[in-house]
Order: sequence, then C-alpha cells, then structure tokens
Amino acid sequence: MAVPFVEDWDLVQTLGEGAYGEVQLALNRRTGEAVAVKIVDMKRAADCPENVKKEICINKMLNHDNVVKFYGHRREGATQYLFLEYCSGGELFDRIEPDVGMPEPEAQRFFQQLIAGVVYLHGIGITHRDLKPENLLLDERDNLKISDFGLATVFKHNGRERLLNKMCGTLPYVAPELLRRHEFRAEPVDVWACGVVLTAMLAGELPWDQPSDSCQEYSDWKERKTYLPPWKKIHSAPLGVKRPRGSSGGVGDSPSGFSKHVRSDTDLSPVKSALGEDRAGYSTSQPEPGTGGTPWDSGAAAIDKLVQGISFSQPACPEHMLLNSQLLGTPGSSQSPWQRLVKRMTRFFTKLDADGSYRALQEVCEKMGYGWKKSCANQVTVSTTDRRNNKLIFKVNLVEMESRVLLDFRLSKGDGLEFKRHFLKIKGKLSDIVSTQKLWLPPT
Ligand code: ADE
Repeated sequence: MAVPFVEDWDLVQTLGEGAYGEVQLALNRRTGEAVAVKIVDMKRAADCPENVKKEICINKMLNHDNVVKFYGHRREGATQYLFLEYCSGGELFDRIEPDVGMPEPEAQRFFQQLIAGVVYLHGIGITHRDLKPENLLLDERDNLKISDFGLATVFKHNGRERLLNKMCGTLPYVAPELLRRHEFRAEPVDVWACGVVLTAMLAGELPWDQPSDSCQEYSDWKERKTYLPPWKKIHSAPLGVKRPRGSSGGVGDSPSGFSKHVRSDTDLSPVKSALGEDRAGYSTSQPEPGTGGTPWDSGAAAIDKLVQGISFSQPACPEHMLLNSQLLGTPGSSQSPWQRLVKRMTRFFTKLDADGSYRALQEVCEKMGYGWKKSCANQVTVSTTDRRNNKLIFKVNLVEMESRVLLDFRLSKGDGLEFKRHFLKIKGKLSDIVSTQKLWLPPT
C-alpha cells in the first residue's frame, strides 16, 4: 500500500469524526512523533468561524497534565487545523465494559485525574461543558486527558464569576439545573458530569437519559433507591452512602440486566445565547498563531514546522487507515498506532485474506438483517436498529497489515453499549475466521 508523502508529516489514520469535521493522526516520518490534527471545515456551520476561534483561544490558555496539549493551529482557506497532543490509549469510553464498568482501583485513578484536570480548568476560569467518556482520552501510560474544548467557555475573569445560560452538553451528563433554570453556575455542571462519568466507570451504564423528574430512573435516585441499578453495583464508599443492613440488593448482587447507553448521541444542540455568552471566551493576551514553540515543549521542532505550514498528505478516502509497516516500525516512535490497536475492543484480526474477510462479514451481516453499503475501497457502512428501536450505524474498515486483515468497527450513530453488543454478536458468528494469534508488538 503506497503511503502518500509530502514533506515530513503523513496523515495516517482517522481518530475521530464529528459535526465539525474530523481528527487525524499525523506521524512524522523522520522522528516518529505523533500529533492529532483536528480538521475543521468552517463552512459547515454559519457560526463556525467564531466557535473555532474561541476553541483555539481557550486551548492556548491550557497547560496541565490532565488536559490535551495544544501545539498550535493553522488556517488554509476555510479549513482550520488544530494540532493537539496525540493520546494513543484512545477514549476512556473504550475501557468501560457494558453493564460491568471497570475495576474500582482503575476507575478511582481515572476519576482522580479527571478531577485534577477539572480543578485546573476551573482555577483558570474555564468550564468544559461537555465532559463525558468520549471526551476523556488516555495517553500511552493511561493518563487521562480532557479533550475537545469546542463547547468550553470562560466563566470567571479577573476573579468575577458570571452565570451561564446556554444549554449545551450531552443529556445524560447534564446537571438538572441546566434543564430547569434560566441561569446556572458553571462549575457544578462540570462536577455533576464527573459524577455521571464515575457512575459509568463503576457500573457500565448511565443512570438516566436525562436528569428530569419525568425520567423514572432519576426520580428513583432522588428517592435514594440505591438498591436499584446502577447504584446497587457500586460499593458504598464511591457511592457515598450508608446502606441500611438487610436491605435488598447491595454490592455483590447479580447484574440487573437492564442497562442504559454509555455513549450517548443525545447531544444538546448548542443554543445561541443571549447577550455576552459567547463574547466572554476571547482573550487577546494569548500568543499569536505560528509564533513558534509551545511553553511546555519548546524543543519540538518537527511539531513547530507542522504548525507553521509544512504540509502533509491526506489519504483519498477519509476513513482509510494507512497503517503501513514502514510507519509502524519508525524508529524512535514512542506512540505506535499498534498501541491503540491492541487497546480498542471493537476490532479483530481474521485468518482470511481481504476478499474472504469481506465476504464472510457480508454474509453474517446480511443473515442478521443488517443494512450493508460499501462506503469506499476498504470500508462498509452497516446499519440496524437497537433494542430500543433506535438507529444504529457503524462502519467497518478492512485494513491489510503485513499478511493479515484487521476488521475495525467504529460507531457512527447510536448507542455505544448497543454498538459493543452488536459487535460481540458479529464477532461470535465469525468465530471460525477470528484469528487468535497473539499480536506482535514492535519494541517501543
Ligand atoms: N481523538 C480526538 N482527539 C484525539 C487525540 N488528541 N488523540 C487521540 N485521539 C483523538
């Protein structure tokens, strides 16, 4: 597979996609350095140029171990490129097992790092406004990094706090006052979202669709019915409650079987605010773009060059993953794409060649009644409905690596937990062709 190559940097893989555009992994050919490039098409939304400017402005203020680092940005026509720290461990979301969560000590460590990041942000007057496992990334040492400041704003300036009124965030994670009140404080809304993230980590499910009294699960929680899931799966200490002796349920009970989605697509569309809301986020005291090194990594010459305008190549198919063996083996690369591959739960190698793998997958999907559409050379889009009759769409990339084929499943639309359940079903039906051969990992 040919690797398009211009100057030092190659765009090798799509890391994420959203309404704004996409995030690509850029690898430096010479040094092996990896950078995430957020590519924003400013023509997509009328108010986009302002939003991106604000995102850049806020990013320039940030410097903390638990916040994704910002290296700089560059504009080419209507496209903005934001250069960000690459988090090779993927999303925290991918570490949450549906209905189970993760081991409590792991959740505790992630939670401590999340809180450290949030305390830092609040200390400099920034609120993230969309904290959720999809926006919490992990580096190669599994350190948590708060990501995506596209909805962030300044709530405190020169020690003066202002109330917020803009409805934004993701419904299962938003605090109740945001739905109920015209104005609300910024910090408690972020803290509430951290609590929901903790619940997802410890129980593998979200407690409610939204925190409103019309939502039964939310009303039950307010009535302290901790014998119900997800609370019954969580130890008393992280739950912060004393359970009366002899109550039904409690820690150690078998899982209830009813579950909520963990990845939510019910993002609240940002409502254009009344006076002031979007103006407060701009700081004019930040360094101008393209002025050179970053305060935390002034020696990163290759990244500087990238920010300042050394161009890179782009694969023809946006979803196409170019995981060329030469790139994988780049000496000195501390963040191998392989590290990401082994950690993601929704992919597997097959024992067949690309054609055989494609046909086997197609047969299973068609038998299961899924919609099947070839999106580009090495990718199909699969669609179905989940148990709640909600649309579920995911893409499967077929990636040839060395002499093997990787089937990489990515959620496009719908509930993340349902996606994982469907993935496991497909994988089960393809068990004959799933390779159990151990992955070879290049030395790092
Ligand atoms: N997806 C979105 N942003 C990312 C980043 N900075 N690193 C890795 N994956 C990402």
